[in-house]
Amino acid sequence: MDTAPGSPAAPDRPRVVLGVSGGIAAYKACELLRRFTESGHDVTVVPTAAALEFVGAATWAALSGKPVATDVWSQVHEVPHVRIGQSADLVVVAPATADLLGKAAHGLADDLLTNTLLTARCPVVLAPAMHTEMWEHPATQENVATLRRRGVLVLEPAEGRLTGADTGKGRLPEPGEIFEVASQVLARAGSANLQDLAGRHVVVSAGGTREYLDPVRYLGNRSSGLQGYALARAAVARGAEVTLVAANVTLADPVGAKVVRVESTAQLREAVLGAAATADAVVMAAAPADFRPVSTSEAKIKKSEDGSAPDIVLQQNPDILAELSADRPRPGAVIVGFAAETGDASGDVLAHARAKLARKGCDLLVVNDVSGGKVFGSAENEAVILDTDGGATPVPRGSKSALSHVIWDEVATRLETD
Ligand code: CTP
Repeated sequence: MDTAPGSPAAPDRPRVVLGVSGGIAAYKACELLRRFTESGHDVTVVPTAAALEFVGAATWAALSGKPVATDVWSQVHEVPHVRIGQSADLVVVAPATADLLGKAAHGLADDLLTNTLLTARCPVVLAPAMHTEMWEHPATQENVATLRRRGVLVLEPAEGRLTGADTGKGRLPEPGEIFEVASQVLARAGSANLQDLAGRHVVVSAGGTREYLDPVRYLGNRSSGLQGYALARAAVARGAEVTLVAANVTLADPVGAKVVRVESTAQLREAVLGAAATADAVVMAAAPADFRPVSTSEAKIKKSEDGSAPDIVLQQNPDILAELSADRPRPGAVIVGFAAETGDASGDVLAHARAKLARKGCDLLVVNDVSGGKVFGSAENEAVILDTDGGATPVPRGSKSALSHVIWDEVATRLETD
């Protein structure tokens, strides 16, 4: 076995360099490393000397199956400071400290990781983690802006508990979420413009709204939110600023997205219309309840003695997608709807969908055939994307993430020709 740092990988295994800089969140990179190795990636860990204060070289070596080095003086004949970067398919740094971001932005190269960042020509994903003040400091923000301008995907840190008792923005996102986004970046590594949504603000709605009858009962639907969350992740991987309006979803927050939680269709409408004011694209993947009770009882509705059921009178909710499409908060914004259809005596799935595209007035309609309960809660999806020119793009059965990228491809094409 070839064991030098940066040694050749099996030809079919993507080579990932996992850089780890010196923050307390370094321990979370162990989980990220496992995700990569267990999914068949060849991982070379390049910690900084400070990172080894938190997690020792033995841990990285054992988990990656390779020796690790922090400086450029080990195995000098192998020229690792050049070879590791040159031969990588993806470089991910997690956590990326303020110091590492500063060095990367300014092209400094005083250890193996910073040398690797300078020699890498593959996609680079940085997952910063630091105290809120350090993240918000203009020096850090300017370094982040510089790196993003150069095409580096710098993920937004998560909010929550920091090293001490304090909380705020600066946490390393969950390793599983970093892995998801990094994998999507790797999968698109050959694309002409990896960050084609950089500088764009996109709004995605997800989940199903609830309309309460009383404090404990509601009208709802079976939407899991998986497709909307996959869309949010995919947009983050393509460099977008993402607002995710989530209705009753229990999934982990996608890394880098701003998540706004809502329950009812009225709350969803307010949140989506508010965020849409600055959006380049809005994708309505949520399933808003079409009806709500005319009144909501403040007390729990009791069963009657005589066994009769209460009369529940419903009224229709506003159609958010139609409203957005008719009265665009931002001219030129691309509006995308979803249609869950079943065929019936009056027409097949596509006939219903074409009519819906015209009725809603959106630019693209992603059509799912939900006959027999297909799609709900499933990790996979199959769809046809209809456009207003009469075009129909079939998307074969595959992951919700794969469908998300086809949707963003269509959106990006429309934004380009804007
Ligand atoms: N939608 C919306 N506001 C609503 C209902 C639906 O914005 N009150 C959006 C959904 O997010 C989705 C699209 O409209 O993008 C289509 O939803 P669907 O339930 O298929 O459409 P409906 O208008 O409810 O049509 P149908 O009469 O077939 O139920």
